[in-house]
Amino acid sequence: MSKNIVVAIDGYSSCGKSTLAKALAKKLHFIYVDSGAMYRAVALYFLRNNIDVTNHDQIAEALKNINLNFHSRDYQTHITLNGEEVSEEIRLMPVSDKVSEVSAIREVRKEMVKQQQRMGHSKNIVMDGRDIGTTVFPDADVKIFMTADPKVRAERRYKEIKDKNPEITLEEVFENIAHRDYQDTTREESPLVRADDAIILDNTNLTPQDQLDFALDRVKPLIL
Ligand code: DC
Repeated sequence: MSKNIVVAIDGYSSCGKSTLAKALAKKLHFIYVDSGAMYRAVALYFLRNNIDVTNHDQIAEALKNINLNFHSRDYQTHITLNGEEVSEEIRLMPVSDKVSEVSAIREVRKEMVKQQQRMGHSKNIVMDGRDIGTTVFPDADVKIFMTADPKVRAERRYKEIKDKNPEITLEEVFENIAHRDYQDTTREESPLVRADDAIILDNTNLTPQDQLDFALDRVKPLIL
């Protein structure tokens, strides 16, 4: 096989990274990996087991006991945590509130990056996250950095999650997004930053099809 193609999609919370990444992977028959789901599953384990995020021994022990696996069904992410399907639970607010803190821990990032690099070693892959183009795959063939107006992002996220979180308000979702933007961009370990060679995609006023066309224009020429 010729060299595998790696597409890195990074950007702020809730700006449609996974929608684009999934659509692109589906169109090109690439593997799709949602790296945020991995951090969310780790955060869920930390919550369930009361792991103290300041205790390095507890963190190391927890990481040894966490086994994550992806199962792709029709390009929907199904992730298991120690064999248990947690795809829905990791989208609920307790995990959303905890995940920035957990994903800022150096040992957690080191382990996730190692697993992510293994996944992109020999297969054509689309991976979305915050540090894919900077840390996980600095040599990715195509890097896209996504952004959108924070209010538009909050409205999109609210629509997506309100059925499963009936108590939630748009204001809370906005706050959560603003908080995660702050944490993601100011943390010491691999902060969210655009790679110098990433192309910016501001999708505030773009349809999913516009975004897919934008990405396909960049990836298709690389496919022999
Ligand atoms: O994409 P998401 O909202 O599901 O990501 C959940 C959290 O995980 C987000 O607050 C930032 C973090 N994350 C990260 O630090 N690095 C990644 N590659 C992906 C996600």
